[in-house]
Parts: sequence; C-alpha cells; structure tokens
Amino acid sequence: MDQSNNSKDTFLEQLQQSLENGTFIKVTLSKKGNKSSDLKNVYGRLVEIKSEVKFSMQIRYETRDEVKNIAVKDVNTQMDEWLGHDFLNADLFTSQKDYSLQYNKKRKARLFERPASQPEKPSLQHNRDKNRMIEAHGNPYLPAMGVTNQQGEILKAGHKKYRQINKYVEIIDALVRQQALPNDAHIVDMGSGKGYLTFALYDYLRNQQSLRCSITGIELRPKLVEFCNDLADQCDYEELAFLSKDIHDYHPEKIDMLIALHACDIATDIAIAKGILAKAKIIVVAPCCHKQVRKAMKHNNSLSAVLKHGILEERQAELLTDGIRSLMLEAHGYQTKVFEFISTEHTSKNLMITAVQGKPQKEAFDKIEEIKKEYGIEYHYLEKLLPSQ
Ligand SMILES: C[S@@+](CC[C@H](N)C(=O)[O-])C[C@H]1O[C@@H](n2cnc3c(N)ncnc32)[C@H](O)[C@@H]1O
Repeated sequence: MDQSNNSKDTFLEQLQQSLENGTFIKVTLSKKGNKSSDLKNVYGRLVEIKSEVKFSMQIRYETRDEVKNIAVKDVNTQMDEWLGHDFLNADLFTSQKDYSLQYNKKRKARLFERPASQPEKPSLQHNRDKNRMIEAHGNPYLPAMGVTNQQGEILKAGHKKYRQINKYVEIIDALVRQQALPNDAHIVDMGSGKGYLTFALYDYLRNQQSLRCSITGIELRPKLVEFCNDLADQCDYEELAFLSKDIHDYHPEKIDMLIALHACDIATDIAIAKGILAKAKIIVVAPCCHKQVRKAMKHNNSLSAVLKHGILEERQAELLTDGIRSLMLEAHGYQTKVFEFISTEHTSKNLMITAVQGKPQKEAFDKIEEIKKEYGIEYHYLEKLLPSQ
C-alpha cells in the first residue's frame, strides 16, 4: 500500500474513532477534485433528530445547498467515495487533535496533525434546537422567502413562519409513515400562496427522505406563481411546479396526497372533494374562513339564545363546518384527526384536519344529517361536490 493510501486510511480511521469515542467536532471537505462535478464543499457535524444521533452534511453545490442526514455508521463509506475524487482537502476537527488530509496535483495524499484548535465539543442539545426538520441553514428558498438571511440566520420576521414550516413538515412526516405514498407520488398543494410550505415539503420529502415524488402548487394569483416557479428553478427543484389557475379547474391525472392550507372558505371544500374523488391516500387541510355554513345556518334550538352574538355564531359555524368536513371524509373512507397544528400565539388559523385512507364509515352520513337538522343547516358545500351515500 502506498503512503498516499495510508494517509487516507489513517484519516478515515481517525474520523471513525472520533465519531465512536465522542471526540468528533466537525469535518469539512473542500478543494474541488472533479471538474465535471458541481460539488463545492461539504460540512459535516453531528445532530440529534428525534432522539437519534445522525451525521448531518451540508452539501454545497455551485448553485444550491442541500442538507442530508445519514447514519453515523455510513459516514466513512461516503467519505471514502469523495476523498481524492470530488474533494482534495479534508479537515477533521476533534476535541483532541485536528487532522488535515491534502492531495497534491498528482493526487498523492499527505496527512497533517495539529493540536486541537477547538477543544470544546458542541453539545448535541445546541444542535438540536437549530436542527428542526427543515434546517435554517443551507436551504436556498428560505432567504428568498424572507425567513432567513443568506447566512441561514432566522430573521426576526421569519420566526413564526419557520416554526410553522417545521411543525407542518413534522405532521406530514408522521402521516407518510402511517400511510406510505407510492413511488412517483403526485402531491398537490391547492391555494399554495407564496409556497413556504410547498417548498419545505418538497425539500423534506425529496432531499431528506429521498422519496420520488412531484409536487404541484395551484394558486390563483399569477405573480405568486411566477415567483414560486422562478425560485423552484433557482433551487433546481425539477419536480416542483406551480400553476396559475382556480383549483376548481384543475383536473390532474392523479393525486396521491392533497394539501390545502388556509384556502379560503369553500376552496377548502373543493380541495377536499378533489382529494376524495382522486382517492388520494392522504388529505391535509387547514381551513381558513367559514362563511358558507354560517350563511346556511337557520338555527332554532336551545342555542339560538346565545348564537344571537355574532362571535359565538361565527365560532359555532366554524365548528360545524369543520366537524362536517371530517365526518364527510370518514363517510368516504378516511380516518381523520382534527387538532390545533400550531399554537394560537403564531396564527389564529391553526386548525388542521388530516385524513388517511381507511374504511368508509357510512353511518357518518346519518350523523351529518342529524347535525344539519339540529342547527338548521340547509346544506354543507362539500355535499354538493360529492356523491351522497
Ligand atoms: C391564505 S393563503 C395560504 C397560502 C399557503 N397555503 C399557506 O398556508 O401559506 C390562500 C391562498 O389560496 C389562494 N386561493 C384561494 N382560492 C383559490 C382558488 N379557488 N384556486 C386557487 N387558489 C386559491 C389565494 O390566492 C391565496 O394565495
């Protein structure tokens, strides 16, 4: 074995040992070794995600950054592939020593050792706070959306959105584990707006979970659609596209997961109906305003005495609108959950209905009829969009 291979092997051994004995701080790969590759740098560190220690790599390409979390046992295989090929410099920092592996023009490697420049190990707790499902650092869509600055620091005005994005991805992650999506799944986000959640979901499913899927955002406002499509191009998110149209007029070949977050009033019903009719495996909606049922309510019951107050009538209408939506989903074969998806401190529009495919519960149709009768509701808009019984 020549000296060069020895140097690389020793470097990999030191890396492995430091990961095992808890002295590892970070590793940095630099100096491009392959002209045809657009890899620029890799920054590796340990993070704790859902109580599991992972090796997190921020991979910097010419035009974008990507974050990939891998098992600690797989680190050396990945490093072995890169060192001496894509990267000609590697710096390992441990709390005991620093190691620098450097390749010359002839691709001969030499290993240098120095006293530790960073004897203090960063705590995983520290990393965990920063390491939510979506990293603030290295995600190119976050600065473009005003959530972080270019250095990955969360802006004052971006904190709420950042928390919301992470909570939302966490919920979808749990749903996808419960109800697996097929390969090449088509996910549709109806009323995608500025696309905060659409980009985060794409990033999470494709880049972190390696799920082969495409996402289409449907949005009425052409300016937002243009903004989102430009940003998707800049991020190289090839399977993410936005269409400027009314969700009513959108008829895709298939929908495997339907999302509609804060789509106004009956737009939520149209979205739910599209999901049910397309037999989507997962449906996720966060309703916005609830005008239709309120107008259709002609209550004459014991609650009428209190529903004379506008705010109480409004809340009652909200409860009935979303309650009937979840019953309707159950009637059409979904298991539902209704919950607050983020604290009211961040947004008042925080109710979420999630539905995963299960068995139809036909008795839910009767329950809907009872409720409508009790509250004098002429009809719920969703009923008009779906077959009855
Ligand atoms: C309150 S925003 C929510 C955006 C995004 N889903 C979010 O939660 O950040 C609702 C978006 O739905 C869009 N929208 C409402 N009705 C729609 C319809 N019928 N078809 C397509 N988009 C619609 C609006 O233009 C708006 O951008």
